[in-house]
Amino acid sequence: MSAPTGTPPLTPVEFSWFQAFLRERTGIELRAGKETLVAARLERRLRECGLSTMGAYIDLLSVPGSGEETTAVDLLTTDETSFFREADHFDLLSQLLQTRTGTGPVRVWSAASSTGEEAFSAALVLADRLGTAGWEVLGTDVSHRVLARAQQALYPLEAAGRIPDRFRERFCLKGRGSSRDSFTFRAEIRANVSFRPADLTGPLPEIGTFDVVLLRNVLLYFGEETRRELVHRVVKTLRPGGHLLIGHAESISGLHPGLTPLGPSVHRYGGEPS
Ligand SMILES: C[S@@+](CC[C@H](N)C(=O)[O-])C[C@H]1O[C@@H](n2cnc3c(N)ncnc32)[C@H](O)[C@@H]1O
Repeated sequence: MSAPTGTPPLTPVEFSWFQAFLRERTGIELRAGKETLVAARLERRLRECGLSTMGAYIDLLSVPGSGEETTAVDLLTTDETSFFREADHFDLLSQLLQTRTGTGPVRVWSAASSTGEEAFSAALVLADRLGTAGWEVLGTDVSHRVLARAQQALYPLEAAGRIPDRFRERFCLKGRGSSRDSFTFRAEIRANVSFRPADLTGPLPEIGTFDVVLLRNVLLYFGEETRRELVHRVVKTLRPGGHLLIGHAESISGLHPGLTPLGPSVHRYGGEPS
């Protein structure tokens, strides 16, 4: 991505400052070469704050209690996602539901949910297999901005093209009036899906245990040690026999002795089937 005209260039010292800032707040490693990306993502915010240099913005971020940190984290995190991304995972979820022997509601955690497409994709599979009760999906993310959009559950109509026809016809509702270019999900689906903030690099809130955890396309932003700690923290939330799904481009090989790889991006946590 090239920085739009008017973006203040980032000096090496400023870039190092943002690397440390993001690492401390989210565990994310901003690799060298991302200077232009950082400048481009913050450009508009600088203007909104009436600032003309990155140094002045860093000064603002350094003021305790300025409240600006959350906005900067939101702007610097990558929230790319889509419905049924890496679709084989949702086929697998469907198969797991057929063979499940455990009792109680099926619980799925979308652990870096972004704007909610992943959580709702899982919800549609659960509703297809189990009906509208006996399951729940939790979505969490460190970015409050993406969570606000996930909670709204309103998506552009074009995005519905990625949802398999059989699910779209049964579970999606086209917006009306000012929302006519958007769609949402039936209330019975939305009732079983919730979102809340959680930083995967710190102690997790009380969220219970899960049959399936989707930890996809987030590990790649962290260094080896953070990844190891994070995977251990997340595995504690898996029920025995539960499954951990990571992004197709990610690897957790050797990071946790209790995980058995079933495929490149699917791991089962020891114990009896959930
Ligand atoms: C590329 S998106 C992936 C979304 C979805 N899981 C998928 O695969 O489509 C990465 C998400 O991870 C979130 N994230 C980054 N660092 C995080 C952290 N420390 N704790 C929780 N979420 C984090 C970002 O805010 C962003 O929404």
